[in-house]
Amino acid sequence: MANTFEIKIKINVFNSLNELNTAEKELCISAKEILNNAYAPYSKFKVGAAVLLESGEIVTGTNQENIAYPSGTCAERTAIFYASTQYPNKKIKAIAVTAKSDATIFDLNKPVSPCGVCRQVIAEYEQKQNQSIKIFMIGNNDVIYQCQSINDLLPLMFNK
Ligand code: THU
Repeated sequence: MANTFEIKIKINVFNSLNELNTAEKELCISAKEILNNAYAPYSKFKVGAAVLLESGEIVTGTNQENIAYPSGTCAERTAIFYASTQYPNKKIKAIAVTAKSDATIFDLNKPVSPCGVCRQVIAEYEQKQNQSIKIFMIGNNDVIYQCQSINDLLPLMFNK
């Protein structure tokens, strides 16, 4: 019989922004505020992301769509690439992501979690900085799922 192994992931659940520390609360609020700047005329799904740097600065991003669909990009990558462009030597401590939508196909009561491509991108920066990145996934009711590292969202990831 084949051997089997299991991979366990750990997700912390917070029921309100007030359960977070000051910097993390500010990070989540930044993600919630910036999503209004999303350009999402096709999906009607507005996503906001915020990146917390080791220096305490917060860099935000939103999803930016395009009529040629694959040309657009997600909020997480907008924020991370901008942070890496502006502050290439500052480590990323955490990223927060949230969304809102009028479209009924999306259930936003559950926390929004990064897509597969964004997970791979977060993994790249964890490796580059040799330090894990906390991920905060925020639902509309402010229930927050939080994990300590992209390892929890992308087990057995492709890497060196
Ligand atoms: N989107 C994000 O910005 N982040 C994610 O993690 C998931 C999806 C965007 C891409 C697209 O503009 C819209 O949400 C619908 O998929």
